[in-house]
Amino acid sequence: MPRHEGQAKTAPAKARAALAEAMDLRRLGPEHSDLVADLERLCFPTPWNAEQLRQGMEQGSIRVYGVLAAGKLLGYLSYYAVGDEAEVVNFAVGSVWRRQGKGRALLGHVLQKWREEGIRVGFLEVRASNEAAIHLYTSCGFRQMGVRRGYYPETGEDALLLKLTLADLPGPVERTERRYP
Ligand SMILES: CC(C)(COP(=O)(O)OP(=O)(O)OC[C@H]1O[C@@H](n2cnc3c(N)ncnc32)[C@H](O)[C@@H]1OP(=O)(O)O)[C@@H](O)C(=O)NCCC(=O)NCCS
Repeated sequence: MPRHEGQAKTAPAKARAALAEAMDLRRLGPEHSDLVADLERLCFPTPWNAEQLRQGMEQGSIRVYGVLAAGKLLGYLSYYAVGDEAEVVNFAVGSVWRRQGKGRALLGHVLQKWREEGIRVGFLEVRASNEAAIHLYTSCGFRQMGVRRGYYPETGEDALLLKLTLADLPGPVERTERRYP
């Protein structure tokens, strides 16, 4: 059972739930694999295809959360979870929907899910030049723990390896509301 299931919701928790509902922010399933693949193609040079996503979601090897509106996928975040560790696979918001708080809401929602799933540490790689993503990740508590030189084959760009220790986030879930809407 998720750690917080059954507990009375505080006012900030209700506000976050209302925001998530308004944005239709939820876990996606294999039936969404085409939508996710379409956004992958638009946002990444080496996208996962719909079949890889469908299989991963069916087998449970990959978990995907997304923001939906009127049947469109505005953004998504996919990750692997093994034991008490998670690794972000991909995270994107469609270009016309950026800078409206959707990325922060999505990442905050996923961090909340990680807590509920008992995830202790999260990892991700991000292009060294990706200031937008680095700013967002570090503002949510991720810290750089290394550099992978020439990690991205199409450009030879370095990847920064970031780590988040969930226990380092401030206090119980309700107290994280302001930072993780
Ligand atoms: C990274 C990404 C998901 C952010 O999504 P978003 O919906 O635009 O993010 P938000 O509007 O919630 O912004 C959250 C924070 O991100 C940072 N940010 C977002 N866009 C930024 C930009 N162009 N420049 C600098 N910082 C930026 C800011 O810290 C912002 O906080 P603020 O609102 O206090 O300024 C989006 O830019 C994207 O899809 N980029 C392309 C794919 C990608 O690079 N994914 C990351 C792979 S590791």
